[in-house]
Amino acid sequence: MNPLNHVAIIMDGNGRWGIKHHNSRNKGHKAGLKTVETVIKISIEKKIPFLTLFAFSTENWKRPKTEVNALFNLLENFLKKKIEVFKKNKIKLIIIGEKKFPKKLNKLLKDSEKKTKNNSKLQINLALNYGSKKEIVNAIKLLNKKKLNINEKNISNNLYTKNIPDPDLLIRTGDTNRLSNFLLWQISYSEIFFSKKLWPDFKAEDFIKILNKYKFIKRNFGKIL
Ligand code: FPP
Repeated sequence: MNPLNHVAIIMDGNGRWGIKHHNSRNKGHKAGLKTVETVIKISIEKKIPFLTLFAFSTENWKRPKTEVNALFNLLENFLKKKIEVFKKNKIKLIIIGEKKFPKKLNKLLKDSEKKTKNNSKLQINLALNYGSKKEIVNAIKLLNKKKLNINEKNISNNLYTKNIPDPDLLIRTGDTNRLSNFLLWQISYSEIFFSKKLWPDFKAEDFIKILNKYKFIKRNFGKIL
């Protein structure tokens, strides 16, 4: 049975769900929060140490300001409401991406990281203002600055995800088979599952089904087994 240390998720389909059910993309984002809570709960139950959630990409700034603001408000309320739950459940939160948000949100993100930094049951890596190509370019610039050799180990150690094992499993919901500039370096040997369900429709049983399938995949990492 394969060990499972890290699950990464592209939570796609909120907008379409919101339009379909309430003629409002923002209502879809709100509904998507329930699925976020579900996958966190199951990750704890299944003792998965790392969960990475793609919540806002560097490209998402191109969306209408009203949608961007609605997403930030949701995130703000979510963190304010959940931080005590995170502390109680020993969840550590870290942000991967560039913390270049409105001042109030930036402070909340930094405070949330600080308040949970000693927790170790589940680490949630929230990808915010995250873009994989930018992350790789940043890492190479850091190597230059630190006068370090350009090699795989040094690049990995200078990504936002330093100290985090590469994902074993990448899940994308929303019936779209693409990677959208997410963890391109880190998923070189991840098992990838695409779900046709829109994120708010992705339920506990859908997540568990994928986790169970993953367990029995023959992972050979290029070798012949
Ligand atoms: C992609 O769906 C989803 C996002 C860009 C945002 C994801 C945000 C949440 C699940 C809520 C906030 C999260 C946290 C952790 C507080 P889309 O809008 O691209 O959907 P579409 O493909 O149907 O348009």
